[in-house]
Amino acid sequence: MRKLINLITDKVSKAFEDAGYDASYGKVNNSNRPDLCEYQCNGAMAGAKMYHKAPIMIANDVVMRLQGDDMFEEVNAVKPGFINIKLSGSFVTDYLRKMREADKFGLEAPEKVETIIIDYGGPNVAKPLHVGHLRSAIIGESIKRMNRYQGHNVIGDVHLGDWGLQMGLIIEELKERKPDLCYFDEDYTGEYPKEAPFTISELEEIYPCASAKSKVDESFAQKAHEATFQLQNGTRGYKALWNHIMNVSVTDLKKNYSNLNVEFDLWKTESDAQPYIPDMIQMMKEKGLAYMSEGALVVDVKEDGDTKEVPPCILVKSDGATLYSTTDLATIVERMKLFDPTEIIYVVDKRQEMHFTQVFRCSRKAGTVKEDTKLKFLGFGTMNGKDGKPFKTRDGGVMRLETLIAEINQAVYEKIMENRAISEEEARKTAKIIGLAAIKYGDLSNQASKDYVFDVDRFTSFEGNTGPYILYTIVRIKSIVKKYKELNEEKETFQLLPPVSVSEKELMLELTKFNEILEQSIAELAPHKICAYIYDLANKFNSFYHETKILSEENRQKQEGYIALILLTQQILETCIDLLGFEAPERM
Ligand code: ARG
Repeated sequence: MRKLINLITDKVSKAFEDAGYDASYGKVNNSNRPDLCEYQCNGAMAGAKMYHKAPIMIANDVVMRLQGDDMFEEVNAVKPGFINIKLSGSFVTDYLRKMREADKFGLEAPEKVETIIIDYGGPNVAKPLHVGHLRSAIIGESIKRMNRYQGHNVIGDVHLGDWGLQMGLIIEELKERKPDLCYFDEDYTGEYPKEAPFTISELEEIYPCASAKSKVDESFAQKAHEATFQLQNGTRGYKALWNHIMNVSVTDLKKNYSNLNVEFDLWKTESDAQPYIPDMIQMMKEKGLAYMSEGALVVDVKEDGDTKEVPPCILVKSDGATLYSTTDLATIVERMKLFDPTEIIYVVDKRQEMHFTQVFRCSRKAGTVKEDTKLKFLGFGTMNGKDGKPFKTRDGGVMRLETLIAEINQAVYEKIMENRAISEEEARKTAKIIGLAAIKYGDLSNQASKDYVFDVDRFTSFEGNTGPYILYTIVRIKSIVKKYKELNEEKETFQLLPPVSVSEKELMLELTKFNEILEQSIAELAPHKICAYIYDLANKFNSFYHETKILSEENRQKQEGYIALILLTQQILETCIDLLGFEAPERM
């Protein structure tokens, strides 16, 4: 469905043309003076030089041709040459009627359907999820849902970190604690047990312990490196332990992500890409791209015009080990082979930007992607505490995700219990839903690349620019509609009517912007624009609600018009929060 702003632009452009000016001057924008008009066109000012005429004369020429058109309630030329526009209520209503009937409320299908892989989440096996992983999960999930909604073929991949030193550390620590396990017996030839020799809580305790030890105990660190190397080279017992670590961890991760309403299509891992490495390196050597430098095998990726130094991409270190970059390069090879994506989007901490610059460039140089395959890095900023430093627990430790979620849920729970007499059970359930909205909206309402302050009090407030406020608005609509339905007979649809008040028209105008905002947010990978939109929409709804008697309206037709309008508002709000990855409760 054509965007409303384009329909107006079409009309104004035609008037410019009819008046003897170039149609391109007829571009219409949202008004930046909403007190004066709803839309405006500044083309007369731009055309003044070209036509050697005062802008106001051009504006008058154009406005004359627009008078009486039923798209407008008012069109004025204002000095020095603005064209101010107010739409007619019937035109806006008509647009909303069409929007309500249209697929996806008038959001057009993309010109070309892309196959997009979204690489997000990126947790490391056996390490507890901490707040650093939260942003990737939240932002990535939203980007996935937004692109899918528009009609693209989207594949979300968690890309588990399962190949690094953390594996060697765990294996070595386990060996010290339980040296008699068969996994460490080189002469063992039997089958390994099906049951893992540890639980998830043990695993989560083993890793930090081993990691701390490796920092003070040089020989332990050395042994952990050796174990990593052996694992990567296929030592049987280590491979079996790795399998256990994977199984135990993945079960736990799935539970955690599902609590966050985050769902991956693929649970691929770093190690899945390992088989692609030898051929890839061979190819890069044959193409003359990879060469030895100080014992390491590297590819130059700097380009003319770089403003900062881009060091060569290292494929193999001097000790023969491959690196994070090698894995990411091979993962691209794997993804191209398995899914042939037209686009890969990485949602990763922005501190990894240089790594991805190197990987993308190297991949292009080597031709492991097609010329038009898009590789995008969506780098996000740090989530800070109120002190402006990276978010920590009260005693300064790394904040575990589960702890953070529990803290938020508790804060919301207390708020709910303060105001309302509902059962404890319902309050707990509702607190979980609202808590998730508080966390996700708090995160997504900031531009992804910016750092932000995680403020439990602010994020859980039912007022202001917060997730709970959006939910509160939806719940308010649900409750009005419910009461209305209790008092009146069932009806299939309600007829939308032209607005009778300013607040009603403002709400309607805001609704018409849905397809425009969505298109822009998706193109720019910017969920924060959807947040800004629903905050405006919720505000417009609440002003309308405060000024309008809905349930006590005596004119039946008028009342049905109100119900139609608020139902559409509810649908748009719910569609948007679903794209952001959360949902509304029935009551709160
Ligand atoms: N596991 C990595 C980390 O914790 C993030 C992985 C991001 N994705 C990627 N393809 N490198 O830093």
